Amino acid sequence: MKDWTFEELVGDTAGFFSQHFGRQPLLRRGVLDAARARELASVHRLDDLVAMEAVRPAYLRVARNGQGVSSKAYTRTVNEPGSALTETVVPEQVYELFRSGATVTWNYLHHFLPSARHLAQALTQAFAAPVDTVAFLTPAGHDGYAPHHDPVDVFVVQTEGTKDWRIWQTPAARRSDSVTYSAEQLGEPALQTTLHPGDVLYLPYGTPHAAAAGEQVSLHMSVTVALRGWRDLLRETVDTLTADDAFDGSPHLGGDNPEAAAAALTEMIALLRDRLAALTPATETARLAAAGRSHGGAARPREFQRLAELAGLTPQARLRRTSLPVEIGVSDGGRTRLSVNGHTLAVPDAIAHTLRLLETGGSVPAGELLKDAAAARSLRAAQSLTRLGVLEPAAPAKSTTR
Ligand SMILES: [Fe+2]
Repeated sequence: MKDWTFEELVGDTAGFFSQHFGRQPLLRRGVLDAARARELASVHRLDDLVAMEAVRPAYLRVARNGQGVSSKAYTRTVNEPGSALTETVVPEQVYELFRSGATVTWNYLHHFLPSARHLAQALTQAFAAPVDTVAFLTPAGHDGYAPHHDPVDVFVVQTEGTKDWRIWQTPAARRSDSVTYSAEQLGEPALQTTLHPGDVLYLPYGTPHAAAAGEQVSLHMSVTVALRGWRDLLRETVDTLTADDAFDGSPHLGGDNPEAAAAALTEMIALLRDRLAALTPATETARLAAAGRSHGGAARPREFQRLAELAGLTPQARLRRTSLPVEIGVSDGGRTRLSVNGHTLAVPDAIAHTLRLLETGGSVPAGELLKDAAAARSLRAAQSLTRLGVLEPAAPAKSTTR
């Protein structure tokens, strides 16, 4: 499966950020072909998932006539030998609700569906913010949810069937809560459209919308992005600046010496002000972005694959240093001690020398890492340093296939 990218959804990213992001919806027709759209989520795959005991009831939600259905209607308690009581989804009850017109949603799809994980990772990178993925499966001819807005930015990908959307003007003011509206409150929609498989729709934060399935069972995936506002970001900055013991302790408030408490507060404010003034905005922005990208639910390590590919390393393959810190010790009897990632190892001086050269950039063929030695021996050394994460292939890794 080809990796998902943010560009695949929005096309020209610069155009997206200057014209649509936070301002107005974006509708892109036929962006994905039908097979690619179904790779993301398909009815077939949801049949598989509903039958999997490992998909806990918390991941499923059922709504009928716009109202949530209690999970008791489609779960049962099982007493597995040697474990506590657990709730499990009963597929037949979910199907029965669906047949009677209920919409079934899978939340946090990226926790258990690899395609959703790939897309979540791409959007987490693009926005430096936590992302959620939800699949909405609606029976033919039924409404999904009543008109409402969500306190997040939403990307919709229609993957099967069609869905009729009504979309109202994106409000200028940002409301932090979720709100359900009546048709009278909203008036005429700004946009009324039908999404077909492969269409992508972007709804900015707070844009009121409603969706209903067409003549067929309809499946779409929503990827929601919870951007941090200034309030959240500044709070994170202050949290970081006040994390050390200079801000430990607590004043006695409410006592009979309010002047002392006020004087202490003056000192703390001065300390915080000095630290804020000393911040480099570009460095702090980068730190906040890195923190946003490291949220749980989007990581996709590829360590098994990386290790498996090492077997195919050839003497000609060029290797470079990774960003992993390595402490290179002094030479002792022809060998130099390296400390890396909690491991200590002794390598021939020639390897330590090459590693020092690589610290400033450049690459070497794996077969020449150990100068003047047989290529096979050099290759073995290159493999073990690559396994440890000290070296990596200099050429960009080819796109992963699964
Ligand atoms: Fe919504």
